[in-house]
Amino acid sequence: MDADAFRRAAAYFASGVTVVTTLAGGIEHAMTASAFTSVSLDPVLVLVCVEKDARFHDAVLDAGTWAVSMLTADARPAADWFASKGRPLIGQFDRFAHRPGPATGAPLLEDALAWLECRTTAIHDGGDHDIVVGSVVAAVVGNRDAPPLVHYRSHYGTMR
Ligand SMILES: Cc1cc2nc3c(=O)[nH]c(=O)nc-3n(C[C@H](O)[C@H](O)[C@H](O)COP(=O)(O)O)c2cc1C
Repeated sequence: MDADAFRRAAAYFASGVTVVTTLAGGIEHAMTASAFTSVSLDPVLVLVCVEKDARFHDAVLDAGTWAVSMLTADARPAADWFASKGRPLIGQFDRFAHRPGPATGAPLLEDALAWLECRTTAIHDGGDHDIVVGSVVAAVVGNRDAPPLVHYRSHYGTMR
């Protein structure tokens, strides 16, 4: 299978955009992620696919807990920033209002529709990504009237 052909076809799947965060060794890490999905209601499980080469990968595996901020359309600068390769780790949250998640300490971005906090229950090999499955330990709805950030065909958009 040609990876470019796959990428072109997969781009037609519209998704929301999240920033996944963790607190590992006292350092806050983050990564823009669209490969996030609900998995199960009983127990309540979600997953995120994390590239093995991403700095976030080792951090989230070490920490064992993480949080998901589901971005509003206005949070596009955060989506861009937390997807920038090589950005400084220290101070990377300074431009964005955030607070520590009460259950995990992982940062929650204020400009979000909803937040989940998760404890890792399984890690499955997924080629160049790991599939990180988490039990949801807290779920809160935030700015319920804001439009969502949507990713489609390599572009950001929204829906109203
Ligand atoms: C819209 C969008 C969605 C993304 N989704 C994912 C994803 O689901 N999983 C992933 O590993 N990387 C994803 N990325 C890429 C990471 O955000 C990017 O590699 C980031 O720089 C990783 O940060 P780190 O190297 O500091 O860990 C996505 C990027 C964009 C722009």
